Amino acid sequence: MKILVTGGLGFIGSHTVVELQHQGFEVVVIDNLSNSSEDVLDGISAITGKEPIFENLDLRDKKKLNGFFEKYPDIRGVIHFAASKAVGESVEEPLLYYENNLGVLTYLLQELKQKGNGNFIFSSSCTVYGQADSMPITEAAPVKPAESPYGNTKQVGEEIIRDTCNVNPELKAIALRYFNPIGAHPSAKIGELPLGVPQNLVPYITQTAIGIREKLAVFGDDYPTPDGTCIRDYIHVVDVAKAHVIALQRLLEGNNATNYEVFNLGTGTGSSVLEVIKSFEKVSGKKLNYNIAPRREGDVIQAYADTKKANTVLGWKAESSLDEAMKSAWEWEQKVRS
Ligand code: UFG
Repeated sequence: MKILVTGGLGFIGSHTVVELQHQGFEVVVIDNLSNSSEDVLDGISAITGKEPIFENLDLRDKKKLNGFFEKYPDIRGVIHFAASKAVGESVEEPLLYYENNLGVLTYLLQELKQKGNGNFIFSSSCTVYGQADSMPITEAAPVKPAESPYGNTKQVGEEIIRDTCNVNPELKAIALRYFNPIGAHPSAKIGELPLGVPQNLVPYITQTAIGIREKLAVFGDDYPTPDGTCIRDYIHVVDVAKAHVIALQRLLEGNNATNYEVFNLGTGTGSSVLEVIKSFEKVSGKKLNYNIAPRREGDVIQAYADTKKANTVLGWKAESSLDEAMKSAWEWEQKVRS
């Protein structure tokens, strides 16, 4: 069965392609290589023994997208990762984000609507909750005003899908709200490859430890948390990837309760920045160079998932620990720089 994975050479996309292939799906990847490389195809085939079909295509090109669906009329499901994801850049270039993340989404949904049967998985984010009023965060927690155009594209993206599914019963969609995906495939053949200076904690840690960055700045230690640093729900990317396959199977088998559903993808455990550093030091045996710096604008104090809905309704549960995820991130970093 043929599945389209947009952004399939990116961080979460590539791990999902691997899990889809493990489950016997035939994968077609669309990627414009704006934040990825064709080498990822080699990593995927080194793990699974099979290279996915690859189409280098910019999804903003509506005509080409239409041509793609004509070339592959037997696509049975779409997992849509392709999007811009840097919060700071989205503030500088809002139109780029609205075009890439929302314009493209409408094009894809139009294609699926035209096909008359669509199974669609959307990459959403815990950013939709902002600073939630209580922890852990359930899917019923209110969506708070977005802090950035990037965050707004996730909120509005969900609304676009919900509204479209409302009036097109032949379309079925699941939005997955990721907490903080980290780590790499245990084979160290694929992983995260941030362009330039990493904005996220874990690649910053591993790049510091390997000597590319001098020192990690811990953004604030005066938050109202046990050790003063922010708390997040860090989840192994392979667990996130597996959830996509399970969500897709739910739609393909018609097990969905309604034709638009939302699930949190987290571990249910919150870890502070200092705990992440400790975990890294434990699994790598290296001391990390870091200092305490001022707070970063826009950071919420804490966010971790209530995973009950994903556990019981989706039948999925994160399996890896923080230590395992950090170990895989470190092995990947060493492999990439060797
Ligand atoms: N942090 C540091 N130093 C760094 C980088 C991060 O101390 O160099 C801290 C942050 O302040 C935060 C924690 O590490 O407390 C995690 O930061 P990340 O940037 O790794 O992750 P965020 O939770 O900020 O970001 C995630 C997603 C984004 C999303 C955002 C919205 O990665 O896509 O949540 O809240 F937009």
